Amino acid sequence: MAPVARQFKLAARPVGMPKESDFSLEEIPVPAPADGQVLVKTSYLSVDPYMRGRITGVRSYADPVNIGDVMVGGAVGQVVESHHSGFAAGDFVLGYWGWQEQAAVDGKTLLKLNPNLAPISTALGVLGMPGMTAYFGFLEICKPQPGEVVVVSGAAGAVGSLVGQIAKIKGCRVVGIAGTDEKVHWLVNDLGFDAAFNYKTATDYTAKLKEVCPSGIDCYFDNVGGAITDSVFPLLNVFGRVSVCGQISMYNLEKPEPGPRLLPYTLVKQLKVEGFIVTRWQSRWGEGIAQMAQWLKEGKIQHREDIVEGFENTAKAFIGMLQGENTGKMLVKV
Ligand SMILES: NC(=O)c1ccc[n+]([C@@H]2O[C@H](COP(=O)([O-])OP(=O)(O)OC[C@H]3O[C@@H](n4cnc5c(N)ncnc54)[C@H](OP(=O)(O)O)[C@@H]3O)[C@@H](O)[C@H]2O)c1
Repeated sequence: MAPVARQFKLAARPVGMPKESDFSLEEIPVPAPADGQVLVKTSYLSVDPYMRGRITGVRSYADPVNIGDVMVGGAVGQVVESHHSGFAAGDFVLGYWGWQEQAAVDGKTLLKLNPNLAPISTALGVLGMPGMTAYFGFLEICKPQPGEVVVVSGAAGAVGSLVGQIAKIKGCRVVGIAGTDEKVHWLVNDLGFDAAFNYKTATDYTAKLKEVCPSGIDCYFDNVGGAITDSVFPLLNVFGRVSVCGQISMYNLEKPEPGPRLLPYTLVKQLKVEGFIVTRWQSRWGEGIAQMAQWLKEGKIQHREDIVEGFENTAKAFIGMLQGENTGKMLVKV
């Protein structure tokens, strides 16, 4: 029998929170790489919030995944067979071949990794897209100054946990908002956040924010949107900056929630509110990765990976991440 590899395809457009049955696990013969392609065996797969947007069927900044398509996503793996002059069997690579155990991938879309510099999984986290989101999305938009107060929502996730630590390096007072007491404990006791609270048990976000930010908020790094963001805006100081990174509290809503109107605050407080997609700084990722790697080496930044074992658990890991089961970067070890 020919060797087979498994892949996850989109089986149905999720309604609300995705279910495992929205994805189908299928077996295919291991593909033969064509000229210019390499056959890669996946080591780690990334599950990320943006994937929820891709499976809605609506074009945002990228094309949607169609029913029957292999799920998209970042992955790292090892070259098994190469028909591309830039790669040899045994090389470790980063690419975007999605939820597949093995894939024949165009060599032009792959980046070679040096496993001696950092564990390969970090290319999907602190030294990859989430790390660059934290680094550029925070520094370029918030332009934090020493002594300023920075609030981070989604603070214990892949991006948020790094933003808070970068803000500490820049001399800011940092407050995190996360969804469990364990996450809050990790932020304050291990990562050095000045304060944090659990939004699932706090009854009044405004009161809580006023208590931990008595002099107001200068920078807000928003990963979640919704009621948390509604409470932050009135407390922003004059010339405050808001980096709109993500709105995960809304990704699984079937109908948009009516919200308070926040633009009057941007007027009277002269705020700068800016959304971004991390690929805006793609040409500068080398600089961002070098700085993050340096901070890691110096012990100024800690990163945590939450690893789910087994390719067959990829859909479960994705749904678990959307429900807050991860602390730090959620990955699947294949
Ligand atoms: N703009 C860009 O280029 C860019 C790039 C990467 C990521 N992002 C965005 O950045 C955000 C974080 O991404 P990530 O990869 O670091 O994911 P992550 O934070 O590691 O994982 C998602 C986290 O979101 C939290 N969450 C889920 N539902 C929530 C809700 N209703 N309210 C508040 N928090 C909720 C959960 O933590 P709790 O336990 O705290 O609820 C969960 O662990 C996402 O919004 C993502 O879309 C944007």
